[in-house]
Amino acid sequence: MTPSLIIAVDGPAASGKGSIASRLAAHYGLPHLDTGLLYRATGLKVLAAGDDLADAEAATRAAGSVTPGDLIDEAALTSRGAGEAASRVASHPGVRAALLKLQQDFARQAGGAVLDGRDIGTVIAPDAPVKLFVTARPETRAHRRWLQLTGRGEAIAFDDMLADIIRRDERDAGRGAAPMVMADDAVLLDTTEMDIEAAFDAARRVVEAARVRH
Ligand code: DC
Repeated sequence: MTPSLIIAVDGPAASGKGSIASRLAAHYGLPHLDTGLLYRATGLKVLAAGDDLADAEAATRAAGSVTPGDLIDEAALTSRGAGEAASRVASHPGVRAALLKLQQDFARQAGGAVLDGRDIGTVIAPDAPVKLFVTARPETRAHRRWLQLTGRGEAIAFDDMLADIIRRDERDAGRGAAPMVMADDAVLLDTTEMDIEAAFDAARRVVEAARVRH
């Protein structure tokens, strides 16, 4: 039997990790989970219930009720507000614990899977044979996200987008529970000067090299 190919793709917002993960999944015929959607859905549930994002109990309850059906409304989930809400609920250890099993079950599917997030290589799938940490300069990431949001009509100034990105990086990397950090055995991929084709090619080479080793 071919060993299961788990590909862990971590990195900060708008680094290109999501596009890389979905391209790798298509290329290798693997299922893909964008784990940020779980935290985004949790944040939206807390807001919809009229609760406070800082309320750990309410957020943990919301995380416990997330089902795959909550991951479908792409426009709501990928809005700027949902990203901010996600980053805030993600700092509650109870939220992370409530979302752990779903992610680990996904990672352990026969044949493998591609997961992207912040703690895939460190917490969710520490034994993954392939780990990528995708990053880019904050200005580049803010520009990408600004193009995406303004392209679909969300009004936002570039400077506000940059401030958002920097604040999110600080919160995600600074939290006590499963902070965003590169796993010791991950390969760093800086996409600042790359378009998606170049980034995908680089990522695919990392996967191929790891497959030869394992
Ligand atoms: O990848 P994203 O921008 O959709 O993630 C939104 C937020 O969710 C991010 O700021 C932090 C949180 N998150 C997390 O803590 N752990 C993950 N594995 C994925 C996302």
